Amino acid sequence: MSERIEKILARELNEPRSRVKTLLQKGQVTVDGVVARAGQQADPDTQEICLAGEPIACRAFVYLMLNKPTGVLSATDGKGAPTVLDLVPSALGRKGLFPAGRLDKDTTGFVLLTDDGAFAHRILSPRSHIPKTYIATLDKPVPPTAAAAFAGGMEMDGKVLQPAQLTILSAHPPRAQVVLRQGIYHQVKRMFARVGCTVTALHRTAMGVLELDPTLAPGDCRALTPAEVALLAKDTVQ
Ligand code: URA
Repeated sequence: MSERIEKILARELNEPRSRVKTLLQKGQVTVDGVVARAGQQADPDTQEICLAGEPIACRAFVYLMLNKPTGVLSATDGKGAPTVLDLVPSALGRKGLFPAGRLDKDTTGFVLLTDDGAFAHRILSPRSHIPKTYIATLDKPVPPTAAAAFAGGMEMDGKVLQPAQLTILSAHPPRAQVVLRQGIYHQVKRMFARVGCTVTALHRTAMGVLELDPTLAPGDCRALTPAEVALLAKDTVQ
């Protein structure tokens, strides 16, 4: 949410308005790298605000990208079993963090963690159609008819699925990329079962245009940059 820059600085720096005014006059504050002007609007959730070149920690919400390993639950309470929250280092964590969308226990890859409920809702809303990209490893080569079956809207749980894109990556080992715009329980595994294949490993590589950072080892996470949050938000509907 955009606010006057003075209001953000006074709150985050805990400084009186007179001092904030001086900092602005001296050109010491930047918003996304551009020197801030008195009275301008800024959005601390999606823009980087710096004082003397250093970011000020004023983001109202936390957004993390996690590379989920196998054996970990996408839940806030695993009832004794390890969850994605157990993997968040305390420096990045915050009360109220939860996974925006679930991966199966044996699925690996991109999980978005946030404490911003409205944002998560928009990301997950079927109306937003945010594409989720997966790489599946299979027990046998994918039949040539599968791409049409995925694109044609299969029926599942009494609903016609939105078209999904299937791209065969290799026959040996059998690997394929799938892009979904909705999230029905075990959807990728069930879609492959319909074309006679069993998924032996599943990895989510992207949400929307945002790809899983290749430098994140399984179990690692990092904060999204304001630009990355804005990229994800851009594709959602209210
Ligand atoms: N589809 C599945 O079958 N499993 C997942 O974890 C995600 C999508």
